[in-house]
Amino acid sequence: MTMRAPATDLPIVLDNVTVRAGALDILDRASLLVGDGQPTVLIGPNGSGKTTLLRVAMGLLSPTLGRVTWGGRELSPPVRRAIVFQRPVMLRRSGADNIRYAMRVAKIPRAEWDARLHELLSLVGLAEMADRPARRMSGGEQQRLALARALARDPAVLFLDEPTASLDPAATKALEDVVRAVAARGIKVVMSTHDLGEARRLAGEIVLLHRGRVIETAPAAAFFASPRTEEARKFTAGELLI
Ligand SMILES: Nc1ncnc2c1ncn2[C@@H]1O[C@H](COP(=O)(O)OP(=O)(O)OP(=O)(O)O)[C@@H](O)[C@H]1O
Ligand SMILES: [Mg+2]
Repeated sequence: MTMRAPATDLPIVLDNVTVRAGALDILDRASLLVGDGQPTVLIGPNGSGKTTLLRVAMGLLSPTLGRVTWGGRELSPPVRRAIVFQRPVMLRRSGADNIRYAMRVAKIPRAEWDARLHELLSLVGLAEMADRPARRMSGGEQQRLALARALARDPAVLFLDEPTASLDPAATKALEDVVRAVAARGIKVVMSTHDLGEARRLAGEIVLLHRGRVIETAPAAAFFASPRTEEARKFTAGELLI
């Protein structure tokens, strides 16, 4: 498969981004630089702004104030990006057909379909289930299928919004293994989770959000070993951050 290293869509830079909904700033002057390398993981409690920040970084939502650039460009979100939403919706067709559909939409040449389909299904461990109706698959299987479908587009940047939120430990491990494999291929992963363990296992860099603010950004090792802020200290100690 021709999965190339990220080129021009990085870095993704948020400069003082505010997203206002009514009287509330659901993102409050958030600044962030997402470069290449290991996954960038957004953590924070429910409602802290993770999904909103992802949507802004993907170019699906425009800031009320501030600006976002992709590889230095404004107003032109990444083309080679793919997204897996928290509750992916599958077509009422087989797993394989869901992936074929994504390849058609992404205009992947037909000559490459079979090889790519085969590789993606094995990557996510669904080779045996390719012909099953996607909507009959378990939650964990559908999450992995959603990931394969996203990868079918040959993205340089992959956004994942709480990809393991409702999965059990075995399904979580399976999905995390795929994320690691994807990152090892040079695809930039930007994901959210409210699972600290997952952040520890996957992150190159951690971004802690609280009430719409970017509280702390740090390499994962440093973040867990010596959190700089009170919020990060609480969060890493497993105390409730409300
Ligand atoms: N369009 C909107 N209008 C009003 N409020 C909104 C809108 N979108 C999001 N919010 C609010 O903004 C806050 C941040 O939402 P967001 O979905 O980004 O949080 P989150 O960190 O992803 O939470 P979770 O962990 O529950 O997924 C929440 O309080 C949410 O209710
Ligand atoms: Mg969310």
